[in-house]
Amino acid sequence: MKRTLFLVLMFLVVSLLSVAKDVKVSSPDGALTVTIGVDGGKAWYQVMRGQERIIDRSPLGFVLGDGDFKDNFKMGKVTRLSLDETWSQPWGEDAQVRNHYNELRVRLQERNGHKRCLDVVFRAFDDGVAFRYEYPRQPGLQDFVIMDEVTQFALPTDAQAWSIPALQAYYEGIYTREPVSKKGNMSGPIALEVNDSLYMAIMEANLTDYSTMNLSHEGTTLKVDLVPWKNGDRVRVGDTRVSPWRAIIIGRKAADILLSRMALNLNDPCKIEDTSWVKPTKYVGIWWAMQKQLWTWAQGDRHGATTANAKRYIDFAARHGFGGVLVEGWNYGWDGDWGRYGDKFNFTQAYPDYDLKGLANYARERGVRIIAHNETGGAAQNYENQMEDAYRLYHSLGINTVKTGYVNPHFYNGELQHSQWGIRHFRKVIETAARYQLMIVNHEGAMPSGIQRTWPNLIGTESMRGQEWNAFDRAGGNPPYHECILPFTRGLGGPMDFTPGIFNYHNDSVPGTRPQTTLAHQLAEYIVIYSPGHMAADQIENYEHQPAFKFIEEVPTNWERTLVPHAAMGKYVVYARQERGTDNWYIGGVTDDQPRDFSLPLDFLTDGTRYQAIVYEDGPDADYRTNPYPMTIRRLEVDRSTVLNLHLASGGGVAIQLLAH
Ligand code: NOJ
Ligand code: CA
Repeated sequence: MKRTLFLVLMFLVVSLLSVAKDVKVSSPDGALTVTIGVDGGKAWYQVMRGQERIIDRSPLGFVLGDGDFKDNFKMGKVTRLSLDETWSQPWGEDAQVRNHYNELRVRLQERNGHKRCLDVVFRAFDDGVAFRYEYPRQPGLQDFVIMDEVTQFALPTDAQAWSIPALQAYYEGIYTREPVSKKGNMSGPIALEVNDSLYMAIMEANLTDYSTMNLSHEGTTLKVDLVPWKNGDRVRVGDTRVSPWRAIIIGRKAADILLSRMALNLNDPCKIEDTSWVKPTKYVGIWWAMQKQLWTWAQGDRHGATTANAKRYIDFAARHGFGGVLVEGWNYGWDGDWGRYGDKFNFTQAYPDYDLKGLANYARERGVRIIAHNETGGAAQNYENQMEDAYRLYHSLGINTVKTGYVNPHFYNGELQHSQWGIRHFRKVIETAARYQLMIVNHEGAMPSGIQRTWPNLIGTESMRGQEWNAFDRAGGNPPYHECILPFTRGLGGPMDFTPGIFNYHNDSVPGTRPQTTLAHQLAEYIVIYSPGHMAADQIENYEHQPAFKFIEEVPTNWERTLVPHAAMGKYVVYARQERGTDNWYIGGVTDDQPRDFSLPLDFLTDGTRYQAIVYEDGPDADYRTNPYPMTIRRLEVDRSTVLNLHLASGGGVAIQLLAH
């Protein structure tokens, strides 16, 4: 009894003391509150939504090369700031983005010893909270090494988490759902289903000159686990004096997570002064036939990147309104074990059967641009050595996009792709490309963190299990629910070069492989998966005489506004997107292996305008396992009072054009 009383008194004293020292910042709508405090030298934060605990007290700080920087703090000065601005982006899911937050900057001051200080900046938005560290230059904290970031996210309950394992090569893993406590180490973004009115995602934003954030956990408490350099250093801090943002997106519905623009808002404004050359476009390419092992990247009888093949693809692109043709396997370096000996790649010398200059001209004359492919085999230093020359050459030829690739999880000197070395490399590529007016599509890249706001020439990244797995994965390819979870996880960081649009599922070379979706689902991917420059990934002959191809020809890739009428993590997603600069709308919906019916009120359409709806939907008896191809295309007149009833087959989808007249 006495002991209990003592404990109760202790608790009261501690909480009174801490209440006196704690500082708070709330979201503009007042719903979310972050509290920051220091107890016994240790700094912590906590997030509440009204009375509901979102993140329990969680520590902040670091272990540095020369010792702890985490348990000797007192709170120093606190400054506040609020911002409500709307900015526009050259391409994106919305033309205008509102950036509205309250900020609290807390100085943590070491009480003794080095007496160094560390700033933590919190931003509370209506759709979540974020924070980052800043390291003011000072005696005792010049250039330094981070051995560990102690940041945690203590979840009050054992939420269901959607994630991929931390060391999955290139992030090309299948997202799975388990309680947090049952997970191994994870890569972000992770999506959380907490309860019927609480959905979350945890991710990093603006990953610049730092190493990637993975998450380990003890029970339901997640902890930042930074990808190390080879010698064990996690981050070497020099001129960049801020960490990436640690962002917690919070919504009442699953759809709220998809509509959050926090990741973009936490990145710096565009650094490219004149973005008029940043013009993403749909593309076709000499590619899927290699994935199906019909053609080769290397020289030989089945070499894909020949002048004749490229001309066919360019002609097709010009005929069907595609702005780009990707050509893989055009340059020297593919003839051996290229994933191992990437330093053999030459990025300016074409194979003898590929007329680099002639084809670039041939394309340009037809209003098409070649997308140059630069596979590095992970030999990133070899790439850096040639980058300026290669980009100068491409620019002079009118090539306006480069697809990069890194098939080897180790970079120069054995450093990991997602280490600080790798992150610096990926950024160097984007910035160098911008100087030569080149757009970048990055395969096997960093986990996107919203930097496309700052560098809109980064028009796409893979960093997920793309469609290609359906060509080579004998274990079954991507499960039908894959596209129902990608937007909630990987998609939060930036556009996905998923390469949709496979029409012919037949593959003799790698038996047992094929998309695990219906054909209508393949069309819906153009809307559900966001990219400003989608590919029509199949071999062009598979599109001839296919009525459904019209949808791919006509679907835009730049949007005015995005809505999400229906969504459940890993089960189904229905998007409605308004075409940029017009009154036309496009709807895309996908489901997992469960057939589903949706009722879709078109009340978002403009009042007084009538639309022609063209609905591409699963035909009778369509089923992704047994009967993937049947599709019905129906036309009807609609307006904002119409309610569409949509049926999606198992593994199915629906894609709709709403054309204003
Ligand atoms: C993997 C990439 O994801 C794929 O698109 C490319 O074709 C191969 N690497 C070869 O570079
Ligand atoms: Ca890949």
